[in-house]
Amino acid sequence: MELLRERNDDLRSRAVSGDGSQRQHALGKRTARERLDLLLDPGSFVEVDLFRRHQAHGLKVSDHRPHTDGVVAGSGTIEGRRVFVYAQDFTIFGGSLGQAHAAKIHKVMDMALATGAPIIGLNDSGGARIQEGVMALDGYGGIFRRQVEASGVIPQISVVLGPCAGGAAYSPALADFTFIVRGTGQMYLTGPDVVAAVNGERVTHEELGGAAVHSGLSGVASFVHDDEESCLADVRYLISLLPSNNMEPPPAYEPCGATEDIRPAFASLVPVEPNKPYDIRDLIAELVDDGEFLEVHEGWAANVVCAFGRVDGGVVGVVGNQPMVLAGVLDIEASQKAARFVRFCDAFGIPLVSLVDVPGFLPGTDQEHHGVIRHGAKLLYAYCEATVPRIQVIVRKAYGGAYIVMDSRSIGTDLSLAWPTNEIAVMGAEGAVNVIFRKELAASADPVELRSELLAEYSEQLVHPYYAAERGLVDDVIDPSHTRAAVARGLSMLHNKRRHPTARKHGNVPL
Ligand code: COA
Repeated sequence: MELLRERNDDLRSRAVSGDGSQRQHALGKRTARERLDLLLDPGSFVEVDLFRRHQAHGLKVSDHRPHTDGVVAGSGTIEGRRVFVYAQDFTIFGGSLGQAHAAKIHKVMDMALATGAPIIGLNDSGGARIQEGVMALDGYGGIFRRQVEASGVIPQISVVLGPCAGGAAYSPALADFTFIVRGTGQMYLTGPDVVAAVNGERVTHEELGGAAVHSGLSGVASFVHDDEESCLADVRYLISLLPSNNMEPPPAYEPCGATEDIRPAFASLVPVEPNKPYDIRDLIAELVDDGEFLEVHEGWAANVVCAFGRVDGGVVGVVGNQPMVLAGVLDIEASQKAARFVRFCDAFGIPLVSLVDVPGFLPGTDQEHHGVIRHGAKLLYAYCEATVPRIQVIVRKAYGGAYIVMDSRSIGTDLSLAWPTNEIAVMGAEGAVNVIFRKELAASADPVELRSELLAEYSEQLVHPYYAAERGLVDDVIDPSHTRAAVARGLSMLHNKRRHPTARKHGNVPL
């Protein structure tokens, strides 16, 4: 018995210690186990399949069968709440994924789904293990299928801390949120060598699929960090804002008096002039508890801001047009970004607060030819099907199709609030007068005088929130300083909202 125990201890300590930590550290990376120590509550990690190793033959792999097979998998807690995790170990076969490696990931994914807990994957891998051929590809397919099955049931987080090459990159793409670290995290479907061979294009790993690319251009990464410590700390922060599964409410704090919280600062944050830029994030900070929020896709499609925060202790998803970037217009990327955020919040019971200040959709051939109609429809679709509590706050202006799309009453918002300075209309006064009074202006002896009369009349009749409020499209015109209190009261009023979607297999969201 003593001998057996010694053998077990010996095998275990060799499997746990590994021998490639120096190389990882030299690359500015931590080992899989060091990462899990940063991610999870101290001492909470329960490992599965420590002794698992591959059963492959040929190509010299039969002689080299390290335990863990290049991935550390199991479960632990974050602020006391259960999560399932796997961390790829680049020091073993470059973290590449073979049959045994994949089976370990499948096992924790199955347990996460069965127990209703988030799954977090730490990626650092050369992709499909070449020596295992199609069995490696089969392993990836099993991950993707499970991710789709778990979509909308448990939160899925992917963290890219090293290479994530080839088909492997679909795992972060399927996850709800993807984190990447500058300088070390890289994702691409075909690497620089293949790109050079096929296109003759010379490009580095970083230029092809580094953090700057995915957090600023492609939109694959939702969060970007300078180092692994801050990255994993933010994963913990994100988890603290999310429910464990779609049947549980998001973790709430005790109410903090927000329903009575009058904030004079609101009015000074938004210029009265409709085209003057300001930072919508200042408004979000004023709205949420302690001014704290977590912005998703900060560097991508910055003309719309999507963020999680708390109002009176409860978690909300905030979508806000950003007048500081492209005057806050909606375009292809902003529609994609906000649509996915709205769908996530809806799937996980997180109420939506939309801060609207939108001049319209971005005009031009580039947008039209690349399908702004199709992509804008994604956001429209996402709002229309959302059954969580929805509050719209029109802070300055809302014009045309963009007014409809930004959670208007017509597409199902529960509560629409508007500031008194508001402009809500089909279009601005100048454009409107030019279209509807073109003939009168052309025939007029004094078109300048006539134009100014017509502009005044149009503004007086249509371009103010009372026109919408008289018709029930705006529920209340509020003093800006009451915004936080009004939103908190609205959320409290809508807390028990239940709506059962029409029975169908699934809708056909425009993709
Ligand atoms: N299958 C099997 N082993 C792999 C592997 C893979 N897909 N990717 C990396 N490895 C192994 C390497 O052979 C090497 O083993 P060794 O230490 O015994 O020599 C080890 O992992 C480290 O790889 P290395 O190439 O030295 O690391 P690097 O940091 O210089 O480069 C990559 C990392 C990921 C860019 C590079 O390994 C690579 O291009 N891998 C293949 C990527 C790919 O096309 N995968 C298939 C996609 S489906």
